[in-house]
Amino acid sequence: MLTLAIETSCDETSCGVIKNGREVLSNIISSQIDIHREYGGVVPEIASRKHIENINIIIEEALSEAGTDFKDLDFISVTQGPGLIGALLVGLASAKAIAYGLDIPLVGVNHIEGHICANFIEHKDLEPPFTCLVVSGGHTYLLDVEDYAQYRLFGRTRDDAAGEAFDKVARAMGLPYPGGPVIDSLAVEGDGSKIHFPRVFLEDDSYDFSFSGLKTAVLNYLNQSKQRGEEPVIADVAAGFQEAVLEVLVEKTFRLAKQNGRDKIAIAGGVAANAGLRKALKERGVKEGIKVYYPSPVLCTDNAAMIGSAGYFNYIKGKRSPLDLRVDPNLAFIDMQPPVIGGIKL
Ligand code: KG4
Ligand code: ZN
Repeated sequence: MLTLAIETSCDETSCGVIKNGREVLSNIISSQIDIHREYGGVVPEIASRKHIENINIIIEEALSEAGTDFKDLDFISVTQGPGLIGALLVGLASAKAIAYGLDIPLVGVNHIEGHICANFIEHKDLEPPFTCLVVSGGHTYLLDVEDYAQYRLFGRTRDDAAGEAFDKVARAMGLPYPGGPVIDSLAVEGDGSKIHFPRVFLEDDSYDFSFSGLKTAVLNYLNQSKQRGEEPVIADVAAGFQEAVLEVLVEKTFRLAKQNGRDKIAIAGGVAANAGLRKALKERGVKEGIKVYYPSPVLCTDNAAMIGSAGYFNYIKGKRSPLDLRVDPNLAFIDMQPPVIGGIKL
């Protein structure tokens, strides 16, 4: 089964050709990061316009690199949401036109599900069930992947997403956008034990996250240093902040894996590219006898291949989207039923 996948939910125009959900024949990513960096974050209107300029070129490149033609395609996979409305519209309009023109099925994909499926591309042996931590720029979810295209949600952020916290803290430290990768490399040079930032675990049995208090603690630290006329050691602040985020992410992920009796953990989303997070999970995994999976960095951040993988696993389960499918900037996770833990509905 060959699918052409299209992803335009934020600031990457990406198209790829994916075979049977796991084999990437092409995965072209045109990033707009350099344009948005000037503004300190993604400007939605600029993102939409750039997608329009790029989309046809990227589709053609994806087909030609894969050595395929439109006629070889079995169905089209496209990100329906969540994301920026104008940006999503460009991808969905193109996907509909191609599906209609070729008279082949269209499969709308949830962007978050795409991030999870990046693991199936990277690790050919990975099969559900496993615990998954999704940490992207806009979302933080802790869930159980019960089967292909079947998920059970246990926790999510109550305020900022993990990546959002990295980006906001980096901005306050005067670092460029996106802040995550910059903090990641600075943290290696710094000493995380120099500044102790709060670890927010919430209620004892909660799998939810909260990062806004930590973000405020870092901002307060920076302001107080300034007031005292001291220059904060940026690498130590980065290391202290990152350690505080990672400790909570790692602890809750392992706790859920153990509760569900899972011997595999996968991570997904842009923050899954974080070297500190990957190392911390691997080390804990060795101790606990749990295998840890993560995609290579290029498959962690936004890309079309992951959308093609999620599209495939939904397609073989019978999913077909109508040609009047609408984008949904706040698309909820498909089939994600809040579980009941200790009588409290999450
Ligand atoms: O998944 P993604 O590409 O886009 C969304 O769907 O949101 O994630 C982008 C986020 C940004 O917040 C970026 O700062 C963060 O992922 N990120 C990182 C790293 N690389 C990207 N955060 C921490 N460490 C990294 N190495
Ligand atoms: Zn994403």
